[in-house]
Formats: sequence, structure tokens, C-alpha cells
Amino acid sequence: MKTIIEPFRIKVVEPIRMTSREEREGILREASYNLFLIKAEDVLIDLLTDSGTGAMSSQQWAGIMRGDESYAGARSWFVLKDTVSRLMGFEHVLPTHQGRASERILFELVGGPDKVVPNNNHFDTTRANVEHSGAKAVDLVISEGRQPATIHPFKGNMDIEALEALIKDVGRERIPLVMVTVTNNSGGGQPVSLANLRAVRAVCDKHKLPLFLDACRFAENAYFIKMREPGQQGRDVRDIVRDMFDLADGATISAKKDGIVNIGGLLLLRDPELIRKADELLILTEGYLTYGGMAGRDLEAMAQGFEEVVHEDYLQYRLRSTEYLGDALRKIGMQIVEPPGGHAVYVDAKTLCPHIPQAQFPGQALVVGLYRFAGIRTVEIGSVMFGGGGTVPAMELVRLAIPRRVYTQSHIDYVIEAAAELYKERESLRGLEIVESPPTLRHFTARFKEV
Ligand code: F0G
Repeated sequence: MKTIIEPFRIKVVEPIRMTSREEREGILREASYNLFLIKAEDVLIDLLTDSGTGAMSSQQWAGIMRGDESYAGARSWFVLKDTVSRLMGFEHVLPTHQGRASERILFELVGGPDKVVPNNNHFDTTRANVEHSGAKAVDLVISEGRQPATIHPFKGNMDIEALEALIKDVGRERIPLVMVTVTNNSGGGQPVSLANLRAVRAVCDKHKLPLFLDACRFAENAYFIKMREPGQQGRDVRDIVRDMFDLADGATISAKKDGIVNIGGLLLLRDPELIRKADELLILTEGYLTYGGMAGRDLEAMAQGFEEVVHEDYLQYRLRSTEYLGDALRKIGMQIVEPPGGHAVYVDAKTLCPHIPQAQFPGQALVVGLYRFAGIRTVEIGSVMFGGGGTVPAMELVRLAIPRRVYTQSHIDYVIEAAAELYKERESLRGLEIVESPPTLRHFTARFKEV
């Protein structure tokens, strides 16, 4: 088989700047070893997130110029609405400025004290919005989804028995909806199968509960289904996407991922009563119904992004480039979350740095190491992110998220070379100690010193 190439040519470029190791040492000290606190200009390869960091196509930029900035009923709105309705089969579409705005509206309406919301794994903003409403967020991913080394084609699947048990335990009245995140970001960017979605749907039908998707990475999930699920190989990805959404009563979407735009989100609903209330809240805090929190040009770019993201050449390249990085890191000797996810590779820092106790943040040590060695920015998903208030998370991961259509294979080869160098010197990685930390979401602003 030939190399799977980037299915595009590059028309606009943005320079990136190499720094010296000495410079980076100063930058790290200045930022108290928190990579959220450094200037993006001082980063050579930025793998902090795949959210809002994608490169738009010439057609998307053309859409930016076409954008209709009318307050109500803009043409750009109908372009987006029609695209979403065709692709996802929802008649009613609410535009929001990003995913968490959709979550905030949804859980303000269905959450509340005493309520319990199951998900395979809540993403942190989803959890925060559920909890902000007073409800409890429960993660019910299958057990394979909690073990980095275990290989399973759909590690994002929900544990159906655990879902049944939860409903029995707390009672269906306390569960406003069941949510499934596709792909499962907090669980390693792992996909959910159609069979599993159908099984969740059957449980929901049995107990008369609505099913919602957190569908930020719906296209990547659909392509995993096409590649891995028996009987799905010959199908058009668009049909698989449609099958996924047809099972759901609603969805929250951050278009900053598979919308391939820098800002934007959607809330999709079918229930007329919920739509009426959500429309009211949308106008209250996001904007009028035909633009949400966005400009007309943003709506055009998003519509075009949704068209492009379901192209199979794109999806094949996308999933293969993540796998390419995962394969190489595994070959170096790093334990990654297996198999590699759709948008990111997650490295298990606990096995990489057995000399650093969990209380000294092995994940953050690796994040600092990758920047120090090579100017690469990544993010810790472990004790820094989830360990406030004395919790000890099961895994200490570092996520290398790949922005869409931004980096070429040689950029990724550079990352691999840097990781190999770091792996040889892994015993030199140093633990950290928190010297200053806010009460919540501490990973964004905490300050550290090296032990
Ligand atoms: N749901 C999932 C699964 C996500 O990954 C994100 C964002 C959101 C919801 C919230 O969307 O940022 O547009 O408000 N994930 C980003 C990340 C931030 O880096 O994984 P948002």
C-alpha cells in the first residue's frame, strides 16, 4: 500500500519559530512550568488541543467573504441549517458560540439537584455544566475503556449493564437523559460502535429516557465504525453519521473539532417543549435564533466544514496520521492508550516515569520534558487536571492532540524524534510541586516548581 498523503495542497502558511533549549528553560521558569501560561509564539509544535486549531479550506475562507451579517434570517444561517439538517437529520438547530454553551443551555433545562446524568465519559466542561446545575455526573464506559494497554475496537462503548443498574438504583425519574460522547475524548479519543449506540437506545426506550450525543467528533467516530464494525465496511460515511444521529433525541456539538472551524457550536433537539425553552435561553445569553453566538461568516465556514469533514479521503488521512504517531511512540517503548484515538495519542506517564510518585505529577513532568527537549506543547490529563481535593485519578496521561490539516508528516516525524530522545533520558524527568493553585479547574493557572 502507498503512503496515505495529506489530501490537500497548502496555499497559505504561517511561520513557526524554533527556540533554543536555553531560551525554553527561561520560558518554563517564567511560566512556573504550566504550559497554558506560555506564549503560543514560543511553541514550535502545538499539540495542546485539536479544538479550534484546525486549518480552514479555500472554500471555507470563501464562505467567510460570503457571510451574511444580517441580524435575523441571514442567508448564511439557512446554509448552515440546511447542511446540518441534511447531514444529521435534525429539523431544529440552535447555533451557539461553542460546545460548552450548548451544554450550559441543555443542563440548565434538564439538570438540577437530585438529578443524575450518565455518560460513557463526561468531558470536563460537560461534567462541570452538569454539576453546576446541581446534578451528579456518572461515567459508565466499559471496563476495557479504563485500561490503557487493553486493545478493543470500541473502547468508548458504554457499559450497558452498568447503565441498567444505575437506572434501577437511582430511579428513572432522576435521570433526565443518557449521554454518549463520540468519540470519547476523556477516555482516549476512543470510538463508540453503532451496535452499542443501539443497545443504549434500547435501554432508553425501555425506560422512556432521551438519548443525547456529545457529538464533537462525530465524523471520526463514524469512520472508525466504517473501518472496524462488522457489516459497515461498504457504507458511505454520511449514512453512518445519519444512523448515529437518528438514534438520538438531541446532541451538543463543538464545531471547533469536526466542524473544522476556529469557533462555533450547535445544540440539536427534537422535543418541541425543550426546543421552546432552549430558544428562550439561547436568546437570553447567546444571541438571536439565527446566529447564536456567531457572526454570519462563522456560520458559512461551519457549514462548509461539516461538508468537508465527511470526505473519506480526509477521514482516512486524519485517522491514519494519528495512528502513525501512536505506532511510532509505541515502537519507541512508550505505553500509549491503545489503540490510538481519532484526534490524539495519549501517553501513559505513570509507566514512563516510575521514579516520579503520583503526588509529584508524572504527567506534568512529561509535558515539561517535551517542551524543554523540543518546544512541543501537550497537555496533562491526570493528577493536575483531576486531582484537586484529594482525588487520585486512575491514569496519568499526556495527550498529544493533532490539529486538523495543520501539521505535515515531517512535523510529526520531528515529534517522534523528540519523543525518542526524551525516552532515552526519561530518568532525568523531574517531578513537580504545586506552589500556587486556584480552587477549581486548577490545570489552567496553577504554578509549579521542579522537585
Ligand atoms: N465535549 C467534548 C467531548 C470536548 O472534547 C469538548 C472540548 C467539549 C465538549 C466542549 O467544547 O470547547 O467548544 O466548549 N474539548 C477541547 C479539548 C477543549 O481540548 O479536548 P468547547
